[in-house]
Amino acid sequence: MVSYNAEKRIITLSNGNISYVIYINPNGVLEQLYFGKYWEGQEADLAALPVRDGGEILDMQTGEMTHRHETRTLCYEISSHGLWDKRGAPIVIPKENGSTVTDFRYLSHKAYKGIHPLATLPSAKGGEEDCDTVEFLLKETSRELYLTYCLTLYRDSNILVRHFALENKTSAPVFLDRAMSMQLDLPSSHYDIVHFPGRWAQERDYEENPVLDGVQEISSNYGRSGHEENPFVYLKEHKATNDRGEVIGFNLIYSSNFKFRTFVNRDRQLHITYGINDEDFCWKLEAGETFETPQAVIAYSAEGIDGMSQAFHHFIREHLITYRHDKEYKPVLFNSWEGCYFNFNTESVISYIDDAIKIGTELFVLDDGWFGARNNDRLGLGDWYVNRQKVDLHKIMAHCKEKGIKFGIWFEPEMVNPVSDLYAAHPDYVPGEPDAAELSLHRHQLHLDFSVKEVVDNIYAQMKAFLQEYPVSYIKWDYNRVVNEHFSRHYPADRQGEIYHRMMLGYYDLIGRLTREYPDIMFEGCSSGGGRFDLGTLYFCPQIWTSDESDPSQRIAIQYNTSLGYPLSTIGAHVNDSKVSSYKTKAILALFGTYGYEMNPNILTASEQEELREIAEIYCKYHQSVIGNGTLYHLLSPNEGNLMCMQSVSKDQTASLVILMNYRKEHAQFRVIRLRGLDPEKQYKNSYTGTVHSGTFYMERGIDFSSDGFASINCRLVILTEEA
Ligand code: GLA
Repeated sequence: MVSYNAEKRIITLSNGNISYVIYINPNGVLEQLYFGKYWEGQEADLAALPVRDGGEILDMQTGEMTHRHETRTLCYEISSHGLWDKRGAPIVIPKENGSTVTDFRYLSHKAYKGIHPLATLPSAKGGEEDCDTVEFLLKETSRELYLTYCLTLYRDSNILVRHFALENKTSAPVFLDRAMSMQLDLPSSHYDIVHFPGRWAQERDYEENPVLDGVQEISSNYGRSGHEENPFVYLKEHKATNDRGEVIGFNLIYSSNFKFRTFVNRDRQLHITYGINDEDFCWKLEAGETFETPQAVIAYSAEGIDGMSQAFHHFIREHLITYRHDKEYKPVLFNSWEGCYFNFNTESVISYIDDAIKIGTELFVLDDGWFGARNNDRLGLGDWYVNRQKVDLHKIMAHCKEKGIKFGIWFEPEMVNPVSDLYAAHPDYVPGEPDAAELSLHRHQLHLDFSVKEVVDNIYAQMKAFLQEYPVSYIKWDYNRVVNEHFSRHYPADRQGEIYHRMMLGYYDLIGRLTREYPDIMFEGCSSGGGRFDLGTLYFCPQIWTSDESDPSQRIAIQYNTSLGYPLSTIGAHVNDSKVSSYKTKAILALFGTYGYEMNPNILTASEQEELREIAEIYCKYHQSVIGNGTLYHLLSPNEGNLMCMQSVSKDQTASLVILMNYRKEHAQFRVIRLRGLDPEKQYKNSYTGTVHSGTFYMERGIDFSSDGFASINCRLVILTEEA
């Protein structure tokens, strides 16, 4: 609900749980009076905040010294730039004379139900029943530049979505030096900041530090959201836990360079800006054009980390992912990569399929190596036609059909090898200066210049031709390098600051066209494992390959940390051949994601097949209701010790899966862990002990994870099912 007190000039956006309150001060500066829990009579309480002197000015018309304006807080919605506020404005647009003063003031606002989609970027969904939006129109004080600021609050979860759109109504182009998506000022900085740095095969490590005095930035400038940091970041009150305390999470519906910046002033107030990284960014906005920033998403919880986490999960499932079968059962996936890499032929793939079926496979995916001259990673990217000398895909697909399973394939559409037909024909299809002495390679490949429509169209035509001949059910969309040269020979000098963003628009254009034309194909995102795990990709791909590291020693943290911000249904998780842990341990962990395999199935023994088939059966039975569409609770964090425990509960509270990983085999003879989210009244049978207890018992007394005698446990799965 949005309410407006015209006399006090106060706008309240509330869903009954939380609220966001904005005061339009007499100078037209938008001040944020409050963001947090809702209470009755809130608006009157806030209106009573004392008015302060907002500074002095010399009026150049009259020569008088007067008060600039009255203010109630230092919490602004959009700080000005080049004037007194030095904390960092979200938007900076220099003038022709070189002045950088940028100052937006209120003109009008309107409220409506629902949320409007963005025209140029993936964005949140929401009908009249789902959310309320307040849309402000502001004008730059000295130019015909108009800023639309949209702020949406969802009713079914404590989620705010916000972005800016800037319209140039002057008669000349302007240059956006900074165009971030949001500013959030908080009156105090008593938070820890949690972010997720990483690298290949070690995605989303956990880092926590007190919000620092001065500036801290969490960012990517790699042209993708990246392994190095993830756009998911949260603030937690110092003592907040999984189920207690204030936690505020942030994410961005975007897959390229981002910057989350905090600034703490001497009064320990916190100023946050978040959006496209302004490093090397500059957008030329022609007269009459509009630039949209990506949407930023904020999750608010007064009930600890899981309150934030569950709000994000709900938002992503209900209001972001567009794949129309997302709520349906996701098949057990077998991926060929780690089993055979590039070394396969029609017969060997068929033998893989036959053995993969024995462990419950329902979707077989042929990974890299099926196209062009791609017999190793130096060749063939960009040539998306089947290598018929190597594989007969028709025969393979017919075999899958006969066996009653689906078939999927791997693409890496944004890349090219220097040794490929595409590069030979179009050396100008890659970014970088034409006279550059060298171009950087990653994994022997170059990035395609996706800022250019002709390049995107070329790949689209190739993929379309493939899909017409081979009606696959699934596409793994990989992305195995970063953007180094962000220069395009196809754009003039004054547009080079646009290339990172334009390359991202090219990715969204291509995947958008294909997902719209083939709405039944499931696309899975990937980027050397989980290097592009973000909301922009999830809009198109309901799941993302989380990491090339599948062994629990790393995976425990990768999956746990990813699940703090992203639903389990999006977390691609496979059992592989790594020798450190048993198949069973790996399989139990993979259950807490979208289950699959990535191994040589020909070498499994009968008992290993049996073990894996049993876990696949658990997946079939419980994934959709308990893991996919259930509610996740984080019980013990691997970031704090050796143990990791998560619990997912079906919406109707009739079943729950609990995983405990004890990686270092700690001898826990009397380990009892309190569960959450069960129905206190219901009776639940414990699959491990066979005993039946009430929901209250499990939540108050706790579930027993003590080791059996002196044999310590490495990994245990307990299924609780309602006993009538
Ligand atoms: C990346 C992916 C892997 C696999 C290979 C294929 O590394 O993360 O899963 O698809 O590419 O080249």
